[in-house]
Amino acid sequence: MPAETALITGASSGIGWELAELFARDKSNLVLVARRVDRLEELATRLRQQHGITVEVFAQDLSIPGASDRVLEFTRTKGLEIDVLVNNAGFGTHGYFDEIPVERQVAMLQVNVVALTHLSRLYAPGMIARRRGHILNIGSTASFQPGPNLSTYYASKAYVLSFTHGLAEELSGTGVTATCLCPGPTETGFGEDSGMKNTLIFRMNLMGVKAVAATGYRAMRTGRGQVVPGLMNKVGAYFGSITPRWIVRKVTRQLQTLPPRSGR
Ligand SMILES: NC(=O)c1ccc[n+]([C@@H]2O[C@H](COP(=O)([O-])OP(=O)(O)OC[C@H]3O[C@@H](n4cnc5c(N)ncnc54)[C@H](OP(=O)(O)O)[C@@H]3O)[C@@H](O)[C@H]2O)c1
Repeated sequence: MPAETALITGASSGIGWELAELFARDKSNLVLVARRVDRLEELATRLRQQHGITVEVFAQDLSIPGASDRVLEFTRTKGLEIDVLVNNAGFGTHGYFDEIPVERQVAMLQVNVVALTHLSRLYAPGMIARRRGHILNIGSTASFQPGPNLSTYYASKAYVLSFTHGLAEELSGTGVTATCLCPGPTETGFGEDSGMKNTLIFRMNLMGVKAVAATGYRAMRTGRGQVVPGLMNKVGAYFGSITPRWIVRKVTRQLQTLPPRSGR
């Protein structure tokens, strides 16, 4: 059987970067996608040298409508069949819904939801036809509950978990699996970028990125539908799912507090 090729979005840092390391260690060829092409090139050069694999780099802003078609066009032009799709690229927007710039929220939904769905739709048929493949989507412990002060981010991650479970069931018996990795706060660029770095939720419970990526990687290889890394996160996700929403949203708000609204 030819070596597999894995396409990873958001491989320029954090969880995506670590996942690329894990695939490379198992001799999978790679396609790395993100905006920061210098970081992708740095990673690609090292992985080619260390592991003797083929690594292609594609610079793409996934918030732009039509971005997923461009990714497909790139892999087709290179003559690549994608056996594993890792929809990892994503970001959060901490703030009051009515105060966060609407362009940033729409861009977030494009990356976290639309590109993830579109890429899955573009690459799943080939995997099914070849009767092998994995789709690994990155959700969050946010997938299990509503999240005031990050309402759109939490809702986007609820979509990712629901979509992945539906897809996993549809794929059963095809030789292709779908897995949702649901990390809690993790030591990556996400805390800074989303504005959550100093929130209580991040200060209380921060997991190392290598452990998170390894947990997701193992779950994908064994075809699990979902995995939550870390005991604290497992407990949080469980209680987030079973506690009445009017309670859980009040607790979550305290963990992600914001200064009083401007002008109120
Ligand atoms: N860290 C956490 O606490 C945490 C917790 C739960 C879930 N997650 C999820 O884990 C995933 C990975 O995040 P991370 O923690 O590894 O954070 P990170 O270090 O900030 O990495 C995010 C990745 O997404 C890419 N990305 C962001 N916007 C993009 C865009 N418009 N187009 C293309 N790529 C884009 C970034 O690449 P460029 O900037 O180079 O484009 C980067 O490679 C995300 O889906 C995030 O929601 C993170």
